[in-house]
Amino acid sequence: RTIEWNAESAEKGGYEHYMLKEIHEQPDVLARTLEGRLRPDTGDVDLGGEGWEDSDLANVERVQVVACGTALHAGYIARYMIEGLAGVPVDIDFASEFRYRDPRLVKNTMALAISQSGETADTLAALRLARDLGARPTSICNVVGSTVMRESSATLLTEAGPEIGVASTKAFVAQVVAAYLLALRMGRANGRISREQGREMIEELKRLRARMETVLAPEAVEHIRELADRHRNVKGFFFLGRGINFPIALEGALKLKEISYMHAEGYPAGEMKHGPIALIEPDLTTVVVNSIGGVSEKSRSNIEQVKARGGRVIAVGSDRQSHEIAEEAVVVPESSEWLSPVLNVIPLQLLAYHIADLRGCDIDKPRNLAKSVTVE
Ligand code: AGP
Repeated sequence: RTIEWNAESAEKGGYEHYMLKEIHEQPDVLARTLEGRLRPDTGDVDLGGEGWEDSDLANVERVQVVACGTALHAGYIARYMIEGLAGVPVDIDFASEFRYRDPRLVKNTMALAISQSGETADTLAALRLARDLGARPTSICNVVGSTVMRESSATLLTEAGPEIGVASTKAFVAQVVAAYLLALRMGRANGRISREQGREMIEELKRLRARMETVLAPEAVEHIRELADRHRNVKGFFFLGRGINFPIALEGALKLKEISYMHAEGYPAGEMKHGPIALIEPDLTTVVVNSIGGVSEKSRSNIEQVKARGGRVIAVGSDRQSHEIAEEAVVVPESSEWLSPVLNVIPLQLLAYHIADLRGCDIDKPRNLAKSVTVE
């Protein structure tokens, strides 16, 4: 669609909304977040700033993640990465729950606050509580000099640049990449990731940009707009995912809720048979995120279960067999399973954007929402 060129549209880089501009900025954000940090020679990374050295990380016995909303979804992905790659146990909770729960932390706990703004009241309070309980406060943050950053002994900056759209997109992708870098650094510090494994993880990062650009190609975006047009008036959405892509189901649902005001629920795919499948009907769309990997066969059966009950299914991911089973699909390039969330989230961001656009919603400033929730 052509838009009038003026100061405002120039500020949005020629895109109709900041959110769309920020979705398309994501390959550049990846590059900026990786810049100067990769050490292929040693199979390691330099996270920048103080507090990420071997002496800081080698003896971490547990990580406690605290965050809200989209940042919490990145935290769930960080849990899979840090446990699966660095072998360190991770606890995670809604910051708003952690701070009132009377939590018990073990010694050598590293608190990890994830926050785009670095000013979210619940996340800041949870980080302070973890610190008071003896944890070392660290963070993944997008704003230099923010309160969360100032109160952390180490911060991993995400370099996403200012994020204007209330619905977070590029900051989320940067948080997931940052979590992968942190898992690699922790695994090299405690010896659970070898130099060779580290080198391969770095090579996977280098292949990511081209794969992101494939998902953002004009024909791919046009296909998603067509899907959005076919599903923009359904009764509601389920987003299902397993393993490291379960948090992507949560994120896809949140994006859609925030900007289109449609009911959407993200769920672990394995939980469907414990009740939620009762909701399936023709006027409800289920998006199944399924990448080639350890759980792809299980998620294929979710598609069959939903279809058998008359539900409409959109399969998103690199698992080709899922695309044959589901009546609609968005193909995503293959990648390391650890980084598949970065690729799978982009079609879900675009689906939410186009449904909201077709429904005439205020995409950059959705009703009832603030960019940073600095009050409880
Ligand atoms: C995400 O699209 C929302 N805008 C919201 O959930 C946000 O992620 C949450 O408020 C946390 O914000 P923060 O990352 O600035 O702490």
